[in-house]
Order: sequence, then C-alpha cells, then structure tokens
Amino acid sequence: MIKHLPVARPYFFGKEHEYIDQALHSMQISGAGAFVDRMEDLIAKAAATPHAIVVSSGTAALDLAFEALGVKPGDEVIVPDFTMFAPVAALLRRGAVVVPVDIDATWNLDPGRVAEALTARTKGILMVHTYGHPADATRICELARQRGIWVVEDAAEALGAKLGGRAVGSFGNVATFSFYANKVVTSGEGGAVVTRDSRLAARLRALRNLCFGDGWAQRFVHDGIGFNFRLSNVLAAIGCAQLEHLDTALASKRRTAVYYRERLSRIRGLILPPDSSRVLHSYWVFGVLLPHGHDRSEVAARLAEAGIDTRPFFHPVHSQPCVPAMQGAFPNSDMLAERGIYLPSFVGISKQDIDRVSDALKKALAA
Ligand SMILES: Cc1ncc(COP(=O)(O)O)c(C=O)c1O
Repeated sequence: MIKHLPVARPYFFGKEHEYIDQALHSMQISGAGAFVDRMEDLIAKAAATPHAIVVSSGTAALDLAFEALGVKPGDEVIVPDFTMFAPVAALLRRGAVVVPVDIDATWNLDPGRVAEALTARTKGILMVHTYGHPADATRICELARQRGIWVVEDAAEALGAKLGGRAVGSFGNVATFSFYANKVVTSGEGGAVVTRDSRLAARLRALRNLCFGDGWAQRFVHDGIGFNFRLSNVLAAIGCAQLEHLDTALASKRRTAVYYRERLSRIRGLILPPDSSRVLHSYWVFGVLLPHGHDRSEVAARLAEAGIDTRPFFHPVHSQPCVPAMQGAFPNSDMLAERGIYLPSFVGISKQDIDRVSDALKKALAA
C-alpha cells in the first residue's frame, strides 16, 4: 500500500497535552486565561511589536484590523492581485473597493505598481507576505507614510520571517497572523493582531470582546459595536506549546527548502521560490512554477497516484468569480496562478519524503 503524504500536517513539540491539561484544570476554558496572556506575549516577541491580541482565526484578525482602522464602504484599498483570499474578503465585507496590483519577482505586492495605483481616494494598502517571503515592506510603508494612509500586513504565512533583519508584522500600522493547523506553528484555529500603537491596541481589545464596559456598574454598557472573536484558553495552550518552539519550526522549514532546492534545481524550466540575502523566508510552504507546456492538473494527478498531496497556487483577485469584473493587466499574478503548485513541506518532513516527492515530480514531468 502506498503511504499517503499530506501537503500539510501539524507537528507537536511535546508540551501540548500538558498545557491543555493545565488549561482544563484552571477552569479557564473560554476566552481569558493564563495561556491567552502568554500566547500574546510570545507573539508580540516574535513580531517585535509591543501589543498582540489573539483572536479566533486569521480571518477574524483581519476583520478586527479593518474595523479598528475604520474601513468604510467605498474606501479604496490597494491589494496584491496574487494572495490568499481571506484579507480581500474581509475588505469586501466592509464594502471597500479593492484595487488589485500585480506582483513582483518576490511573488508579492510590487511597490512600483503600488505607486502608480495610488489615487486621492486610496485609504490604505494591504500587504501580504505570501508563502512566507516578506513583501517589500520598507518601500510600501514609505509610500503610505508620504500619503498619510494606513498599511495592514497580512503575515498569516510569515510569522518569524524578516526583512533586512526586522520582523514582519512590525512594519505596518497593524499586522495579522493565523494559527490554523497548516501554519508554521498552530493553535488548531486561531489568529492574532499586532500593533505598535497603544490606542489602536486598546480599540482592538475592546472590539474583540463586544466592547463590554469596564467595571461592575458599566459591565453591560457598550460604547461600540464589537465582535466575539475571543480565542479559547484551551487552544491558546496549544498555541503556547507551539510558539515556544517557533525557531525550531522555522529551522525545519528552511532545511526543507534547502533540500528541495538541491533536489529540484536541475529540472529544466522549473522555477523555484524567490529568496535572497535581504530576507529571512519562513517557507510556510514550498511552491514551484512548473515548466511551460505542462498541464498542472495532470502533474498533480500523477503525484496523487503516488500518494502525494499538492495544492495549486492562489487564484488571482481580478478573476475571482465573487469580485466585480475589473480592468488591468496582471501578467505575473496570472503566470503564478497558471503554473504554481506547492508540495508537502510541513514541519518535520523527512529527507526520504522530500526525495520521494522530488522523484515523483521529475517522473510526472517526464511523462
Ligand atoms: C495570507 C492569509 N491570510 C489569512 C488567512 C486566514 O487565516 P484563517 O484560516 O486562520 O482564518 C490565511 C490562511 O491560510 C492566509 O494564508
């Protein structure tokens, strides 16, 4: 029987059960407790920001961020055309007008094209550090600063990644993370919002918990319309056990990438993921662009026959069926969406499994 190799699976470092037991014994199983506080400290440290607010998912983190920034119907927001859809959906839910911009050689928002797309109506820029490679946050934040508009960093795939030695999540006005089970570290479901701004942090905390009033007498007096985006202390227990080993998880991801590069670099026409000495890539997933002339679904089907799970790259924003039709050319984003596929690259994957995937991919491309 062929051994099934999933595209993603969580890796447990050892303290997960112990911490879950502690959370259960503490009787704090809802959205407050020692693990929630500790998880926030660990995330703030990893993102090099003073404030971290954990929430129930990466998507909730984005909803909270855009609510706190006051995004309103009609606000124009620049977004990368090539991105996981959650941040774009969060903007569209608020009635914002998304303005997709093509990507650069790092597979992220192209700062030159952002400069061209800015208008008097632009209220903010969404930057996504796709697949764990940091976007050019320095240039993008500088453009935003000149205009007096906000930047949100969606760093769901990039906790621990760095640009010029500085942690992603520390560049924008607000940054968001996801701790879904396929992320570098996980709490099962979960997310976080980080910021350097104390007033914004207070607003995010209030909005996370329905803007309940302070003190006994004011408890049920609400001065704002918030959400319940609290993360359970039991899930935060898993999150803490994972975040304590973020460096080990990232080292595993990077080793995996180095070994895939070694195994795949000689396949003619195959494009390996961008990387450079300017960045520390988190390698959330290891994605490649197939050589021209191959049917991506057929290649994936051949790998599936060999028991190997893969995923196609994200679908461009400009051609999502739920997004209003728009003008513009997005050649880089279209090219990635046509040729991209990502391979099993979870924390703890063995060299033998990487050999197996690499051999199966070579065979599928030779067929
Ligand atoms: C870039 C990005 N943003 C947001 C999310 C949404 O996170 P969640 O699944 O925790 O809601 C994801 C999830 O994969 C993501 O990759």
